[in-house]
Amino acid sequence: MAEKQEVVLSGIRPTGRLHYGNYFGAIKQFVELQEQDQLCYYFIADYHALTTAKERVDYFRYTLDMLRTYVACGLDPKKSVIYRQSDLPCTAELNLLLSMISNIGHLERGTTYKDAIAKLPGGNTDGPDGNPISYGLMGYPILMAADILIVQADKVPVGDDQRQHVEMASDMARKFNHRFNCEALKIPQGVSRNALRLPGLDGGTKMGKSENNDLGLLDDPKLVLKKVKTIPTSTDPGPIQGDSDAPADIIPQLAPGLAVIYTLLDLLAPEDVYLDFVGKYRRGEKFYGMLKNTLAEHINDFNAPIIDGFHAEGNNDESVKQFLMENAEKVTPVALDTVENCREAMGIGRSLYRA
Ligand code: TRP
Repeated sequence: MAEKQEVVLSGIRPTGRLHYGNYFGAIKQFVELQEQDQLCYYFIADYHALTTAKERVDYFRYTLDMLRTYVACGLDPKKSVIYRQSDLPCTAELNLLLSMISNIGHLERGTTYKDAIAKLPGGNTDGPDGNPISYGLMGYPILMAADILIVQADKVPVGDDQRQHVEMASDMARKFNHRFNCEALKIPQGVSRNALRLPGLDGGTKMGKSENNDLGLLDDPKLVLKKVKTIPTSTDPGPIQGDSDAPADIIPQLAPGLAVIYTLLDLLAPEDVYLDFVGKYRRGEKFYGMLKNTLAEHINDFNAPIIDGFHAEGNNDESVKQFLMENAEKVTPVALDTVENCREAMGIGRSLYRA
C-alpha cells in the first residue's frame, strides 16, 4: 500500500478582490505546493470572517470571486482540495469541544485578540457593556485549531503573523491527547511560507485591501496606470553614490514609494530591464515617467492572463460551486471521524444520530 500522503493545509479569509500582496504572499506558494507530492487542502475561512464583521457582508460572493481568481492564477481544484470552512460544519463542533480545554488567560495572549484590544479607543475594555470584543473573536485561535486538527493536517504553511496561532493549535492537540489519554488529534507543524510581504502603493509597510493601497490582480490597464501614477516619488532621497554598474540591491535604500516601484519591477520585468532602471537611478537621471510607464506595462502583462482566466468559459460561479460541493463531500469523512474520536475520548460518546 502506498504511504499516506502528507497533508498540507492552509486557510484564507474571504476578502473579495485579490491583490499582489495576496499573490506573492500566498497564492504563488499554494500553486507551487500543489505540484509536489503532498495532499493540499485550501479552504476559505468564512466563519473566521464573521469574527470581525460589523454588518452583513456578502462573503459568499467574495468567496466565489476569490476562487475564480485562484483558478485563474493556476490553482487547480483537481489537484488541490479546495473547500469552504462552513461547508464543514463539524468544525464548529470541534471548536466547541476544544473550547472546553482552552484557558481564557491563554486566549488573551493571542495576537488577534491583543490587536483588537489595541485598536479600541484608549485600549479601553471596561465600557458600559464590559469588554466589547466578541466571544467569537477571542476564540479565533480555537476555531483555527479546529480547522487544522479536524483534517489531521501535518503541515500548515502560514505567514509570520499566523505562526502563533498554529503553535496554539499544536499545544491544544497535545493537551487534548494528554488530558483524555488518547491519540485523537494529530500534532500539526507550522512551516514558514517563504512569502514576500509587499509594501502598499502608498509606500505603507503592507499592501492590503483595507489599507486601500493595493494593486489588484484583475485591475484593467486604465486603472493600473492611474494607480502607478499615484505612487509617491517626491520623497526621493536622491541618487545613491558608488559604482553605478554594481547590480546591488538598492531597494532598502530607497524612499518608500520608489521602493514599491522597484520591488514590483524586480518581480515582474526581465532582469535587464530592472538593472537598466537601477543604473538610471544611480546616475541620478530623470526617468520617473518612463519608469512608471514601464512598470504599468509589466503589470498589465501579468494581469492579462489572470483577467482572461477569470472570465474563461468553465470558470464561473457554477463551476466553483460544483467543486466546493465535491470537495466538502471528500473532506467530511475525515473530519467527522476526528470529531467522533474526540467525543468518545471526552466521554460523551459518539453521535447516535449521525450515521
Ligand atoms: N487566520 C488565518 C489568516 O488570517 C486564516 C486561517 C483560518 C487559517 N484558519 C486557518 C490559516 C487554518 C491556516 C490554517 O490568514
